[in-house]
Amino acid sequence: MKKVRKPKTTNHSVSAEQAMRLAGRYLMNTYRRPALLFVRGRGCYLYDHRGRKYLDFLGGLAVNALGYSHPRLTRVIRREAARAVHVSNLFHNSYQGPLARKLAEWSGLERVFFCNSGTEAVEGAIKLARLAAHKRGTEGKARVLALENSFHGRTFGALSITYPAKYREPFAPLVPGIEFVRFNDIADLEAKFDDSVCAIVIEPIQGEGGIYPVSAAFWTRARELASHYDAALIADEIQSGLGRTGRPFAYQRYTGLPDIVVIAKPLAGGLPLGAVVARESFAESFSPGLHGSTFGGGPLACAVALEFLSTIEDDNLLENVRERGSQLRSELARLAGDFDFIREVRGEGLILGIELAVEGKAYVEGALREGLIINCTHERVLRLLPPFIVTERQVDEFTERFRQVLKKTKRPHAVAAEFAEKKDRNALAASR
Ligand SMILES: Cc1ncc(COP(=O)(O)O)c(C=O)c1O
Repeated sequence: MKKVRKPKTTNHSVSAEQAMRLAGRYLMNTYRRPALLFVRGRGCYLYDHRGRKYLDFLGGLAVNALGYSHPRLTRVIRREAARAVHVSNLFHNSYQGPLARKLAEWSGLERVFFCNSGTEAVEGAIKLARLAAHKRGTEGKARVLALENSFHGRTFGALSITYPAKYREPFAPLVPGIEFVRFNDIADLEAKFDDSVCAIVIEPIQGEGGIYPVSAAFWTRARELASHYDAALIADEIQSGLGRTGRPFAYQRYTGLPDIVVIAKPLAGGLPLGAVVARESFAESFSPGLHGSTFGGGPLACAVALEFLSTIEDDNLLENVRERGSQLRSELARLAGDFDFIREVRGEGLILGIELAVEGKAYVEGALREGLIINCTHERVLRLLPPFIVTERQVDEFTERFRQVLKKTKRPHAVAAEFAEKKDRNALAASR
């Protein structure tokens, strides 16, 4: 038999030091990174260039829901890479239809558009809501409501409905017709909602904003007003969705479905894939040529996404998310009892925030020194987004090591007044 020779590939690897030096020299300055390079991962652990092991409780910012090198995803990636990584959207591929059906089943909605990222899904949702309003012949129905403290992405439409000024103002002027509603404030919502609104966009749990869940009463009222004024209720489930709360979607804890849901992050196990999922009554506004994407919904990403969703179902991972989530939450509550500067622990399933009375940066750095990966959002909220496959022992391992981080880290001075206030409250409670 004739021997098939393997094609030669170029070795592009450089030392870790050189890779970081080149990044400093040639990359645009958009990220602040520690002098550390991760070279591989397995399950919930990452390994750096020196071979040191880290327990990852940030999961690639909610992307690595099945951890690293999950055997089922790896197998599908290999198989599809050898077939067709990309087929243009001028043609069908084998996986878009089945994946769209699965997402319709998970969400309770009807039709799907695929794109590549969260921000792009948000753009698609806003475009769809505007289009639906125009198609219904409602003149001037173009205002979009979003919530204070929200984060929806970095492209212009998504950025325009993102609340913190630090993200928006450097890029002004932004998209007009946006108004922010005070978080969970029903009276403000009612005051700002009228016939000129085409959409309201809500993260059921604000992620970047510090892990704040929207109240059931606020959601219900938003649903009622959106129906009354024929506007779209858009759920941004990019961080909270696809199983993170222990349900397929975080909005499933409320009554009333959204009209449009946007998803991305964990959908294709780390490959870029986002989606807009909508009710038929909104989706029907699109017709060929009105919206599209070169890469969105390619066969490789869609095949991996199908495998991701089947793995969650086959391995009962939603149950694991709920169980490990409540284990982690009660361990963190215990820590909050022992460390006065922890103000609150909140969230649901495996999206948890630990609000401190002091700045969180030093604790993130301390955790990294201790071999733990977490991050800090909203200056004082330590955020945990562990993979859905996390085990009971890994939750124990995390909390023991995190206790050491809390003990060892030199406490920053900032917001000392609030810390003192909690100490007073605790002393008062203890004296009762
Ligand atoms: C709730 C939410 N919406 C939108 C985005 C933007 O997603 P992407 O970074 O994939 O564009 C993010 C990213 O963190 C997010 O958390």
